[in-house]
Amino acid sequence: MTNSSNPAQAARAKALAWILQGGKRLLIGGQWIEAASGKTFEVINPATEERLCHVAEADSADVDAAVIAARKAFEAPSWATLSPHARTRALLRIADKIEQHIDELAAIESLDNGMPLWFAQGAVTATVDIFRYYAGWCSKVLGTTIPSDGSTLIYTLREPLGVCGQIIPWNVPILMASIKFANALCCGNTVILKPAELACLTSIRLAELIQETDLPPGVINVLPGFGATAGAALAQHLGVDKIAFTGSTAIGKQIVRDATSNLKKVTLELGGKAPNVVFADADIEKAVQSAVKTFCGNSGQVCSAGTRLFVQESIHDQVSERVAQLAATWKAGDPFAADTKLGPLISAKQRERVWSYIGAGQEGGASLRLGGNAWSGAGYFVEPTVFDNVRNGMRIAQEEIFGPVLSIIPFKDEDDAVLQGNDTSYGLSAAVWTRDVSRAHKVVRALKAGRLWINTFGESDPAMAFGGYKQSGWGREFGQESIEAYTQTKSIMVRM
Ligand code: NAI
Ligand code: MG
Repeated sequence: MTNSSNPAQAARAKALAWILQGGKRLLIGGQWIEAASGKTFEVINPATEERLCHVAEADSADVDAAVIAARKAFEAPSWATLSPHARTRALLRIADKIEQHIDELAAIESLDNGMPLWFAQGAVTATVDIFRYYAGWCSKVLGTTIPSDGSTLIYTLREPLGVCGQIIPWNVPILMASIKFANALCCGNTVILKPAELACLTSIRLAELIQETDLPPGVINVLPGFGATAGAALAQHLGVDKIAFTGSTAIGKQIVRDATSNLKKVTLELGGKAPNVVFADADIEKAVQSAVKTFCGNSGQVCSAGTRLFVQESIHDQVSERVAQLAATWKAGDPFAADTKLGPLISAKQRERVWSYIGAGQEGGASLRLGGNAWSGAGYFVEPTVFDNVRNGMRIAQEEIFGPVLSIIPFKDEDDAVLQGNDTSYGLSAAVWTRDVSRAHKVVRALKAGRLWINTFGESDPAMAFGGYKQSGWGREFGQESIEAYTQTKSIMVRM
């Protein structure tokens, strides 16, 4: 098993060596330091339930120190007056660094979060493109010239916001940290990142790699710690100019309340309950394969996952049978084994939460097509679970489960699909499958969500904005909108 000629095992060994070397601290002002309190917390491998290491635990005192460091870096000539081209080169150097460490970062992510290695490799590879995408933006954050009579000149500048607090979840940490860093840095901000207490190791390793590229000290700071202490202190802090948060809708609302302290800017990427709508005229096999991938991928711990599969009545039974058949091939097990498709959930608590929804589905009268068996052995695994003949009003169809649990819901026609698809408090993503071009465009216009797909699901591109309608969030990441989310406009009049 530990044969190092096996690339997965070699990557695992390298990642473990880094994890076990100790020294997992806070990054403040270019220095790796212990928490002011001296406290640490445990990092658990969810596939084995074993402890991997301890990490320094930041709280409000460390947030204070990080804010001072980030402010100093924001105002330092080495960052504030850096030419946009130099900033491009800095982000490209980070992309190159990540590219040289894909297997190691992926293996760290896999050990810490439990995701299969192949999934982690995909996520790390995507971060390379994200840094390169934002590298290109540095020299394109444009102001405007405003029409006026010849006696004045009016123009605008787009300026960075300042010190940005960034709070990320545990589901795909390397991707979350990279989106947040790259977006903020390309606009000239400085950053304090608080990774999730349940998976913080790739944020630490990424920051180490970034430090090796000679970014000025204090431009990025990393504070592993808990939400109620470090996270809340960041959201409330008078010296923080913006909070970018990704996580649950409940905590997103708390962030908004905390941010009123100084009316800092807030962007939120929150939960989802995406409708994935399959019409009888679709390429059904393609739709089914994609539907299984979206609800099982990362064990369903994805905010944009297609967790409500709306299927036209005439094909409901056929589709649900095929979905169950394919989902059953998603083998759970060791994230480093070549044939593993499904990793564990992040924690025992998350497994309890998912189990409570599986119970609610059965009590609510949905029919269980697949799953429902407890996992015997170590690791917080839940096997793919498929309910069909679900009614959209049931709890399993309304609440974000964040596990590999699918609700298949029958619908009659276009109007019914749209009505039911939109009957949710969320609005992050949605998809429609049909061979009818007009119908496809009509339905995506009618669905209330921030990112939509036609005849595919879940594909991403950093140039394509991502964010929520309704209670799925505020603002957008990726694309031009994300540049606006990390800058502010200054307008200037010159009397000639
Ligand atoms: P969470 O929203 O509590 O955690 C996300 C991040 O917020 C973590 O870094 C956490 O430390 C931080 N946080 C927690 N409380 C905070 C506070 N008061 N102030 C500032 N930061 C705070 O999510 P949790 O509890 O880990 O997961 C529970 C459920 O939330 C999941 O089952 C899922 O439904 C949803 N969730 C959704 C995510 C998404 O991307 N849409 C990501 C993670 C969780
Ligand atoms: Mg962990």
